[in-house]
Amino acid sequence: KTVYVLNGPNLNLLGMREPAIYGSATLDDVRQLCEQACQRHGLTLEFRQSNHEGELVDWIHEAGRIHAQGGLAAVVMNAAAYTHTSVALLDAVKGTGVPLVELHISNVHARESFRHHSYLAAAARAVMCGFGVAGYRLAIDAVAAW
Ligand code: DQA
Repeated sequence: KTVYVLNGPNLNLLGMREPAIYGSATLDDVRQLCEQACQRHGLTLEFRQSNHEGELVDWIHEAGRIHAQGGLAAVVMNAAAYTHTSVALLDAVKGTGVPLVELHISNVHARESFRHHSYLAAAARAVMCGFGVAGYRLAIDAVAAW
């Protein structure tokens, strides 16, 4: 089965972006960590990043088609700032029925109040935050056991 790991806006800057909050690992490091975790579990990885909301919507639809054929393990999504703004991403998850893990590198609940609300959480099977980039590995380990 395939795991879609989708990353939203500004995560291409990982490693140089607010390192005190997000750490020094780059998005390519995260990709490698996800690749290793998927290999351990015999899962196929689709790892992507976009700064564009509609592109993320399209990728959820793509994952939804694989889900309909029984080939999807989960979508692990760090929607970044779109978490807190995007009804479109929520509707895409609801409309496709993909099993979603909402992931954040930082503990959003210990940060500004505008980060406390997530549109996606209502449609997520699981929500995780605050484990740093190790959260990606933990999420893949968890979905492998679903
Ligand atoms: C984030 C948290 C969001 O509030 C923020 O907008 C991000 C990254 C995280 O991984 O901690 O861009 O999703």
